[in-house]
Amino acid sequence: MPDVNLTTLYKLKQSGEKIVCLTAYDATFAHLESQAGVEVILVGDSLGMVLQGHDSTLPVTVADMTYHTRAVKQGNRGALIMADLPFMAYATLEQTLNNSAELMRAGAHMVKLEGAGWLSESITALVQRGIPVCAHLGLTPQTVNVLGGYKVQGREQAQADALLTDALALEAAGASLLLLECVPSDLATRISQRVKVPVIGIGAGSGTDGQVLVVHDMLGLSISGRLPRFVKNFMAETADIPAAIKAYVDAVKAVEFPAREHEF
Ligand code: KIV
Repeated sequence: MPDVNLTTLYKLKQSGEKIVCLTAYDATFAHLESQAGVEVILVGDSLGMVLQGHDSTLPVTVADMTYHTRAVKQGNRGALIMADLPFMAYATLEQTLNNSAELMRAGAHMVKLEGAGWLSESITALVQRGIPVCAHLGLTPQTVNVLGGYKVQGREQAQADALLTDALALEAAGASLLLLECVPSDLATRISQRVKVPVIGIGAGSGTDGQVLVVHDMLGLSISGRLPRFVKNFMAETADIPAAIKAYVDAVKAVEFPAREHEF
């Protein structure tokens, strides 16, 4: 068992203390992050973009995710490890169960799936079999081709209402965590207040129960040279990578990150 578990995260939500989450894809970063106080390490399929150089997460396979989850497990010192099920790895219930089991065997403590109400059946089945789930809502990068780009979600009233309905449905189905990506901060705050499970945000303002960033982004590393608006480069004011990770942890805990300029 990790030092941080779901009970820890629920207590943090109840106490109002922010949860710190950050991606890692290898043992060295998992070690640095867990030592710096990151509570949840996300082995994100963002590795398809930041490690493999693709322009989306779609080419990432279960084998890729398993390899990196195993590496993260080796370096981790007590954080909860959440691993992404990649594109089309949860298209059927059988695939969902088999691929989640693979990630759990590799060292994950929970899995993350992108989608809305249609995930309910899979979530219930996973939880019944002992696999906790985080449901990723809002901007879901695996459906970028349907969404027509990496755009803020939930700006229209109908879309915002649908997001709240989906969040409540996924919580009812058994999701232990929700992750909201690129949604207006007032909507993210409203959803975080309505659900009992902790909500982790990225590009969702400071009203969620926790924050996540892609580690390469918060270290100012970008192939294109551009960072998304919701990212802060923590290397700009620090001497080295361990100090930048610690500064991120401290800024999330102090509710100094994200600031107004990082919100939608
Ligand atoms: O894959 C990932 O790193 C993610 C974050 C962007 C939340 O899902």
